[in-house]
Amino acid sequence: MSPTDPTAPLLAVSGLEKSFGSNRVLAGVDLEVRRGDVLVLIGPSGSGKTTVLRCLNGLETPDAGVVAFDGGPRVDFAQKVSKADRTALRDRSAMVFQHHNLFPHLTVLQNVIEGPVQAHGVPKAEAVARAERLLARVGLAEKRDAYPSELSGG
Ligand SMILES: Nc1ncnc2c1ncn2[C@@H]1O[C@H](COP(=O)(O)OP(=O)(O)O)[C@@H](O)[C@H]1O
Ligand SMILES: [Mg+2]
Repeated sequence: MSPTDPTAPLLAVSGLEKSFGSNRVLAGVDLEVRRGDVLVLIGPSGSGKTTVLRCLNGLETPDAGVVAFDGGPRVDFAQKVSKADRTALRDRSAMVFQHHNLFPHLTVLQNVIEGPVQAHGVPKAEAVARAERLLARVGLAEKRDAYPSELSGG
């Protein structure tokens, strides 16, 4: 399938495996997500839901499995994975954590620009302008200089 094929899966995962020592958490997970789909992983605490997400965004390295995301490379974790392939997977995915994981010593605006500036080398003025637009879009413009401890959980 060509990457521009609108019927091609946005995310295709097959045979995803991950163990922590003798604890075999993922024993061959297959899933496909198409553009516009919402996929819900349901399972008891400790069943591996978070581990699936962490394997897909590069916070964990799967022991095996093939992952292809949004027309990018088809990455086979049973082989040695190149840095470029790893970056390609991680660059265009994002994870909203159960806990906020904001930098407590940085303001809202500084938290929002940290990724683009540090990881993607976006010029600071450009990152600030974009962050201000995004904060306005979600009704948080007036919180730009607040610290995480000054925000409500929601
Ligand atoms: N970094 C880790 N080191 C060792 N064990 C881990 C690690 N991360 C998760 N686990 C174990 O993997 C299993 C699945 O955890 P997790 O993916 O967080 O489950 P869920 O999100 O479904 O509650 C649990 O037994 C957990 O203790
Ligand atoms: Mg979890």
